[in-house]
Amino acid sequence: MKTLLHCQKHLFSLDPGQHYLNGAYMSPMLKSVEEAGLSGLLRKRQPQRISAADFFEDAERLRALFARLINARSADEVALIPSASYGMAVVAKNLPARAGQKIIMADAQFPSNVYPWMKLAGERGLDLEFVAMPVGKEHRGKIWNERILHAIDDRTVLVALGHVHWANGTRFDLEQIAAKTHRHGGLIVADGTQSVGALPLDVQAFGLDALICAGYKWLMGPYSSGYAWLGPTFIEGQPLEENWINRRNSEDFAQLVNYQPDYQPGARRFDVGERSNFIAVPMCIAALEQILAWGTDNIQAYCHTLIAPYLPKWAALGYHTEHPDWRAAHLFGIELPPRVKPADVQQNLKAAGISVSVRGDFVRISPHVYNDAADLEALTEALSF
Ligand SMILES: Cc1ncc(COP(=O)(O)O)c(C=O)c1O
Repeated sequence: MKTLLHCQKHLFSLDPGQHYLNGAYMSPMLKSVEEAGLSGLLRKRQPQRISAADFFEDAERLRALFARLINARSADEVALIPSASYGMAVVAKNLPARAGQKIIMADAQFPSNVYPWMKLAGERGLDLEFVAMPVGKEHRGKIWNERILHAIDDRTVLVALGHVHWANGTRFDLEQIAAKTHRHGGLIVADGTQSVGALPLDVQAFGLDALICAGYKWLMGPYSSGYAWLGPTFIEGQPLEENWINRRNSEDFAQLVNYQPDYQPGARRFDVGERSNFIAVPMCIAALEQILAWGTDNIQAYCHTLIAPYLPKWAALGYHTEHPDWRAAHLFGIELPPRVKPADVQQNLKAAGISVSVRGDFVRISPHVYNDAADLEALTEALSF
């Protein structure tokens, strides 16, 4: 249900002298996440308080929260992983690919969703196709999506794509792309690192085969947290490592050397070793509980409303922003006019205490519910040349 959120800055400990518009770099810490981390840290003062059940219960709670966020059929489909690259490696290890097939990616996407495919292509004789961003600004996002759809054919074994482009926020229509990929017998893995948590994504409605997310950006967890959702093609695959807790009956600590050939059910076999991290897992739980309480559609709506008055101002200053149909509101690039030099923008931003990312000729702006009009005013002032 849509509700209009008010600014949630009071739930964070941001420096009042700074304008943090860089959630795409990493999220600031919710106070509730910080408290969960501190009590997790202090727990090890009294290790006898950590019981065998504690190795499982919080991990299961976290799996269930993430499953709810992405509308997975059940928590069984979720694995707890340390990074996006780990999740992509799981998919690469289990991809049924043969020589002559191809993997499609968008141009200049994040390396954690490129290197695994480069390696696999070398090992199995696959081709890689990077779909270029259109040079012209008019309808750029729409044309880029059309180009990706056009690239999908009977040779396509995998489309590996973000939901939004990490550097400029272009939104990829995963639902249409998944549908065409499946018509040609291929699979699709989405990198949700720059969207899940701030932009609604429904793995069932979108028809994905796998979804991989690092957890320290829009999922507001600590660094080295992440999630993998594995659909039917991958869920019975081979894990990257053989760790004890992922084997059947690992709950019974007295029987651990009664070695088990079977894994725990579902995607648990892909959990990273020591995934019961007693500091990080409670932090991730607190983060996902808050995100679910806000609602990702409400987060997106908040960002949309926050930036709306400034889009015409940036346009009047000569900056180009993608049409809202083809970009997110929580992460988008504004392209510098030729008269404005990136180094000058960077100097202004630094002087005004504004945190955004400058990537080539784009300023990447990534707001969240902790931002308010004062942050956008300061940004607009710094962009005024
Ligand atoms: C789209 C995207 N994927 C993944 C990552 C992080 O990857 P990893 O968890 O492998 O460090 C980032 C970091 O900026 C990103 O922007």
